[in-house]
Amino acid sequence: MHSSSKKRTITWLILIMIVLYILYSSNFLLLSKDKPDCSTFKKLDATTEEQLEMSEKEDEDQEDEKELPLDQLSQRQDTKLEHIVFGIAASSNLWDIRKEYIKVWWKPNQTRGVVWLDSKVRSEANEGLPEIRISGDTTKFKYTNRQGQRSALRISRVVTETMKLGMKDVRWFMMGDDDTVFVVDNLVRILSKYDHTQFFYVGSSSESHVQNIHFSYAMAYGGGGFAISYPLAKELAKMQDRCMQRYPGLYGSDDRMQACMAELGVPLSKEPGFHQYDVYGDLLGLLGAHPVTPLVTLHHLDVVQPIFPMLNRVQSLQHLMKSVKQDSGSIMQQSICYDKNRYWSISISWGFVVQVTRGVLSPRELEMPTRTFLNWYKRADYTAYSFNTRPVAKNPCQKAFLFYMNRTRYDPIKKQIIGTYSRYKSKPPHCTWRVDSPEDLDSIIVSKRPDPLRWQRSPRRDCCRVLPARRKNSSMYIWVGSCREGEISELSL
Ligand SMILES: *[C@@H]1O[C@H](CO)[C@@H](O)[C@H](O)[C@H]1NC(C)=O
Ligand SMILES: *[C@@H]1O[C@H](CO)[C@@H](O)[C@H](O)[C@H]1NC(C)=O
Ligand SMILES: *[C@@H]1O[C@H](CO)[C@@H](O)[C@H](O)[C@H]1NC(C)=O
Repeated sequence: MHSSSKKRTITWLILIMIVLYILYSSNFLLLSKDKPDCSTFKKLDATTEEQLEMSEKEDEDQEDEKELPLDQLSQRQDTKLEHIVFGIAASSNLWDIRKEYIKVWWKPNQTRGVVWLDSKVRSEANEGLPEIRISGDTTKFKYTNRQGQRSALRISRVVTETMKLGMKDVRWFMMGDDDTVFVVDNLVRILSKYDHTQFFYVGSSSESHVQNIHFSYAMAYGGGGFAISYPLAKELAKMQDRCMQRYPGLYGSDDRMQACMAELGVPLSKEPGFHQYDVYGDLLGLLGAHPVTPLVTLHHLDVVQPIFPMLNRVQSLQHLMKSVKQDSGSIMQQSICYDKNRYWSISISWGFVVQVTRGVLSPRELEMPTRTFLNWYKRADYTAYSFNTRPVAKNPCQKAFLFYMNRTRYDPIKKQIIGTYSRYKSKPPHCTWRVDSPEDLDSIIVSKRPDPLRWQRSPRRDCCRVLPARRKNSSMYIWVGSCREGEISELSL
């Protein structure tokens, strides 16, 4: 009898558990009924148009599930903007012009740092500029280079002088010139990859192979900006003045810094998003085919043409910042796609320009910068660059049509950034090809979701797709975003 009652209890227990489980799971289903069921989408055999709409829906669903805080840019280290202190090298005689570049990127009460000048300037309160200080005296140092200027000594000591101010909670010192423009969120993204408690010297070389041979491939160019981790700055401060006396013949401040790094035995951690831009002319070729890495700096902005040809230099940068504000991680990121009906190759440099070319240019060509710019050594040819380039097309039919970013806004309902890129009306070349001319377009509308965590994934170009629109429409609609499985840049005929 005992054993049978035991059995009955067990049976009841199991039954109760089953009922509880059913209740629990049905409740669960009720609660999660607004969760999308993507599988039904995938089974549909849809036409292209429907597929495009679907893909957007799927993208939306994926991102809604993530719901990560937008300011969480960091990868391995939780480095934030407040951990970085800028040391900006400036000169008093150019201050009135150059301070306008600093205003473009400086965020009052957010960015920390100091501008180091050679002598006092008149300054107004609330100009939205960093604190100004006068560099320490360097007359006791030897300087024997005939081409350079003694100011190199003062500028070389910007990092250590900034460190000696004793600011709290500093992980990195970021050196830049007064004509360097930073995308500060991308700086945070790059520095977050490195352990700030170790010795790091982060920056990049020059675009000019000749410059790099002359100075060093191991040197971070000062105008492109370089970062020194706090412990390295501390170690540098102990030896820099002695070190500088050993190299009186060097030209500038950044080669002096590299000489001391060599004595410390710390190599350059090269990051191709820092841009010295030792070039003349139009940056379009370089900015239209940016390496797949966050854009951190732009330099020599007085030397090159304004990046938007219809605006002046400072206005151009302010205009670019409108795109940066929407999706800093994607600024200047290239995507390549084709209009298969009109045989056009499309290369987008997000937030800046869309280039449309008749005919099919392969991605391996399009990801190579076109030589719209000249070498720092004006007589040098293309072999004097430190990277691959391609010539500007000679055939008038192969000339790229340029659509520069005109407006950009965020659509909170679609959760998309809508950019309007307007055709730059230069005189179209005479072309006899029987291919539609991109001249018929007035504007290109580019939609893209903000992607603040893109650099936490492996580096990859975004994909783009030409969205269906009626012919004889003066606008072309393009979607940009991370590639779907199996999606590549190809013209499938
Ligand atoms: C910066 O902070 C100071 C003091 O907290 C405040 O008076 C000033 O208005 C702030 N400026 C900006 C641009 O937020
Ligand atoms: C944007 O387009 C309008 C209208 O075509 C034009 O007047 C304006 O100059 C353009 N602005 C830029 C920055 O391209
Ligand atoms: C072009 O196509 C878009 C989207 O299909 C539409 O909203 C717009 O009104 C069209 N414009 C013209 C001039 O047909």
